[in-house]
Amino acid sequence: MHVFLFFAAFAQGQEVGSRACAPCHAAIYKTYMSSGMARSAGLVDSPLPSGSFTRGSTEYRVENRRFRFTRGDAAGERSLEWFIGSGGLGRSYLFSQDGFLFQAPVSFYASAGKWQVSPGYETNPRVDLTRAVEPACLQCHASRLQPVAGTQNRYGSPPFLEPGVSCERCHGSGQAHAARRAPIVNPRKLAPEARDSVCAQCHLTGAARVARDTRAAYRPGMLLSSALAVFVWHDGSGSEAGATSHYERLNRSACKKASGDKLWCGSCHDPHGAPANYRQACLNCHSSKPCPQDPAGDCIACHMPQGESHTAEHVAFTDHGIVRRKQAPAPPPADRRLAPFFAAVTDRDAALAYAVVAQNEPSLRRTALAQLEAAAASAPSDIALLAQLAQFYDRMGREEHALALYERVLKLDPAHNAAAVNLGIYKVKRGETAAAVALWQSALTRNPAQTGVRLNIAVAQFQGGRLAEAEASLIKALEYDPDSETARNLLAEVRAAKR
Ligand code: HEC
Ligand code: HEC
Ligand code: HEC
Ligand code: HEC
Ligand code: HEC
Ligand code: HEC
Ligand code: HEC
Repeated sequence: MHVFLFFAAFAQGQEVGSRACAPCHAAIYKTYMSSGMARSAGLVDSPLPSGSFTRGSTEYRVENRRFRFTRGDAAGERSLEWFIGSGGLGRSYLFSQDGFLFQAPVSFYASAGKWQVSPGYETNPRVDLTRAVEPACLQCHASRLQPVAGTQNRYGSPPFLEPGVSCERCHGSGQAHAARRAPIVNPRKLAPEARDSVCAQCHLTGAARVARDTRAAYRPGMLLSSALAVFVWHDGSGSEAGATSHYERLNRSACKKASGDKLWCGSCHDPHGAPANYRQACLNCHSSKPCPQDPAGDCIACHMPQGESHTAEHVAFTDHGIVRRKQAPAPPPADRRLAPFFAAVTDRDAALAYAVVAQNEPSLRRTALAQLEAAAASAPSDIALLAQLAQFYDRMGREEHALALYERVLKLDPAHNAAAVNLGIYKVKRGETAAAVALWQSALTRNPAQTGVRLNIAVAQFQGGRLAEAEASLIKALEYDPDSETARNLLAEVRAAKR
């Protein structure tokens, strides 16, 4: 009740951008703008270091803000247009093609001072230029995104109006406040869970994050849990490797358990990026009973040790579990269960969270399926539930069930990509080729770099004897995905048949 009244007092309105705050909050603006968070994304507008490396049989070269790859007969190049990450650990890069954004397979690693393949490409023998950058990827690193509705990865130009985390991501829309007509959120003055939600929107990954069916979009002042259900492993396993989960680790510390709401991110960090005095932060609570081991030493060196960085991104460096002694991480136990991080979750949210983790943990597939079925039974128009359930049936070969669900999903959301693509496959199997191709063509308007979809269309055209169309489809597939061996082979086959 209290929180609701408090929140209702804030005017909504447009976000105006951090620059609008500068005239009245010059000192904070200046400090904040040089922090990592404020510089966590941006336009590549100055020369990049040149470099080249080989990975397997592929040679990569970065020069003049472009990268080029060559692997046997395949070659391609793209402009590195946007970066993600302020660069302390490393930087990822994005390129665009026809207004759609993709992640580059090359990243700059600060510790080594050189270019290498991007995280996730290490074991891929092929050069994949089709990694769609969806809004969910950008939302922690950039502000005021401009996604084009009904697409997966198309954006206005520029894709975000403010690079990095803007003032309003923590303070809420400032339009009315900047015009001196309304107060603005100060996270410190919020009730503890609403306060912590401000940082948790980006610093709490957990094992699964599920958008709730409230359709609420998170804004500072709200509880994150009204928009998002976050699940963690019940025993805390995986939260170190799981990287951006500083909040989860902190909650497991003895300090947090014993001091409750009093301890939060702001106990140690200046949110505006001013250098922190960590020792002082510890002594604020630990002055009466000095450390038995080394009361004069550097507290964090022993109690918040740094881990090793394995990739250029998403490594929680500093152990926020505030440990007594540095310990080796325990192996995950046989019993894997999810627990909600915030209490307010439903069976539906849990079912979707199990569906997410089951992708990497086959032993949880039965649990996920049973929960999805139970939840879907009482929510016949919940798109997320139906689509997940359809994919389970799809993988299990229960075609009739999957087909009916995909049709229902598309009726509820005609722009649903996975439903359109998979339904197309069922249609083709049933001889409805024209309907299938129409579904696939619509999927390509949402993301044109779906090689599998273009190949399906080409095969349908080929089988229908429309060789010129099949050839054109394959040429287009190779424009987006020049290293697709399947597309190249099929193209050779189509051309041979044309002769
Ligand atoms: C025209 C001057 C002006 C502009 C522009 C302005 N502020 Fe303020 N702000 C103030 C003044 C004056 C106060 C102190 C009185 C108050 O709380 O309204 C303040 C207070 C605040 C507070 C503390 C509120 C509290 O309850 O503790 C925050 C946070 C804040 N501003 C953020 C922002 C942000 C973010 C922007 C840009 C979107 C911004 N301000 C733009 C004048 C301004
Ligand atoms: C909109 C997303 C977002 C929100 C909200 C957010 N952070 Fe961050 N934070 C990031 C990202 C992204 C980085 C990594 C920045 C980079 O590229 O180096 C980061 C980095 C940091 C760092 C490392 C130092 C630095 O500036 O790079 C600290 C400390 C930090 N955040 C604390 C907080 C605290 C405390 C809050 C809440 C008051 C908060 N963050 C809210 C996204 C966010
Ligand atoms: C849920 C929020 C979140 C999402 C989504 C997210 N990041 Fe991050 N990212 C962070 C935070 C927070 C950090 C700071 C380091 C940390 O805490 O692990 C970070 C760090 C990074 C860094 C290292 C920054 C540096 O200064 O060294 C890179 C590179 C990066 N992210 C790229 C990406 C890319 C690419 C995507 C999309 C595929 C992405 N991130 C999605 C929150 C996020
Ligand atoms: C990462 C989240 C975050 C971002 C980004 C952020 N703030 Fe804050 N801000 C906070 C928090 C948390 C507090 C409360 C700090 C405290 O009192 O412990 C705060 C406090 C304030 C205050 C109250 C006065 C004060 O000195 O504490 C003002 C004014 C303010 N912020 C303005 C801004 C402006 C302007 C920007 C952008 C240039 C900005 N903030 C960016 C989290 C953020
Ligand atoms: C908001 C208050 C608060 C802050 C800030 C705080 N602690 Fe604690 N911490 C506690 C409380 C309360 C306990 C439990 C009682 C005790 O051992 O004193 C605790 C426990 C500990 C323990 C024992 C852990 C265990 O497993 O038994 C260590 C070590 C510790 N703190 C170190 C630190 C260090 C280092 C810092 C600074 C980086 C810090 N604390 C900051 C409140 C705090
Ligand atoms: C008890 C003190 C303390 C608290 C509370 C705390 N941090 Fe930290 N944090 C640290 C220390 C110490 C570092 C390492 C700083 C360094 O090496 O310069 C750090 C580093 C970070 C970094 C940089 C990446 C990394 O892992 O080194 C991020 C991001 C971060 N903290 C986010 C948070 C968030 C979000 C919260 C709240 C959930 C939080 N911290 C609460 C002490 C704290
Ligand atoms: C050289 C490493 C080192 C440094 C530096 C250090 N500690 Fe410790 N601290 C330890 C070890 C090891 C223990 C565990 C002692 C034991 O188990 O008997 C400990 C125990 C503690 C405890 C738990 C005490 C108890 O009775 O349970 C607290 C609280 C603590 N340290 C806080 C601090 C603070 C605050 C600082 C900085 C002023 C600090 N430590 C500096 C190594 C260190």
